[in-house]
Amino acid sequence: MKSTKTLGVILASAMMLFTAACASGGQGGTNAGNKAAAPQTNAGTSTAPAAAPANKKITLGFAQVGAESGWRTANTKSIQDSAKAAGFELKFSDAQQKQENQIKAIRTYIQQKVDVIAFSPVVESGWDTVLKEAKDANIPVILTDRAVDSKDTSLYRTFIGSDFVEEGRKAGKWLVDKYKDSKDTVNIVELQGTTGSAPANDRKAGFEEVIKSSPNLKVIASQTGDFTRAKGKEVMQAFLKAHKNINVLYAHNDDMALGAIQAIEEAGLKPGKDITIISVDGVKDGFVAASEGKINFIVECNPLLGEQLMQAVNDVLAGKEIPKRIVTKEGVFTSEDAKRELPNRQY
Ligand code: AHR
Repeated sequence: MKSTKTLGVILASAMMLFTAACASGGQGGTNAGNKAAAPQTNAGTSTAPAAAPANKKITLGFAQVGAESGWRTANTKSIQDSAKAAGFELKFSDAQQKQENQIKAIRTYIQQKVDVIAFSPVVESGWDTVLKEAKDANIPVILTDRAVDSKDTSLYRTFIGSDFVEEGRKAGKWLVDKYKDSKDTVNIVELQGTTGSAPANDRKAGFEEVIKSSPNLKVIASQTGDFTRAKGKEVMQAFLKAHKNINVLYAHNDDMALGAIQAIEEAGLKPGKDITIISVDGVKDGFVAASEGKINFIVECNPLLGEQLMQAVNDVLAGKEIPKRIVTKEGVFTSEDAKRELPNRQY
């Protein structure tokens, strides 16, 4: 019986590999290489969970953050499409950016005895109890997109997603270079992502780490815009009221930058000219704004994590060792790059 189960998982893994190989030509589209993962460190755990019987579909419970941005929409689609292509049963929930909703969804997946739970944690802290419950139920957990700050890394099998600190560094490096010959003070306002989330914490930290070596670059205001367009616009309006001399906007995602662009235009200023704009993500709407010169620099964050997640699910259920951290490869785009790449952009 056990060998029949194992054979089923091996066959499913082989099919996944085949599917991933066939699909891999279709997701590139940009000079950044939209996909691909670089294994970093070793998983360090080989405890095999109960494999799904050969005749039973693998069930994956996925607790999504919400639908706050274009990035998230693309991420959700990637997960749903890839689960379908892999032949998994996907149980999907939208937490509307609330941690308590994600915890509830994870507990439901535990009760339903899904084979694997995956989620993108809305904030970094406060996961240990529910992750321990999943571990006690022998259900492996995979983190995608965002990290948790749990000390006990045995609570999850792997974390697949971007290096957000590096994204912040890339934004900072471009700015340092742009103003390297300027003696004048450059006033920066920052629109942070959701408070307490990994991308907000890390993009801020990486940016600060790089710009601190340039004393003329000054962050004069920094506030959360919760990764949404509406909040990005609202906070930018407040920034413009409070500060007459804003030179640069650093937005932690495209949606907030797009909301801020509306506020800047309504204030009679030219985005990308009167105020230099840097954002993160690289969704289609961000690319359109960049190709029009309204966003000057985009740091890419890849939402197409579905294939890698399904592969990891198969590997975990097959009892394979998988890397504890899988980092997605990403690029950067100036307005000129965005103009060139816009027709290829898939999301
Ligand atoms: O966690 C990834 C971030 O979440 C994206 O940069 C942002 O757009 C999204 O809401």
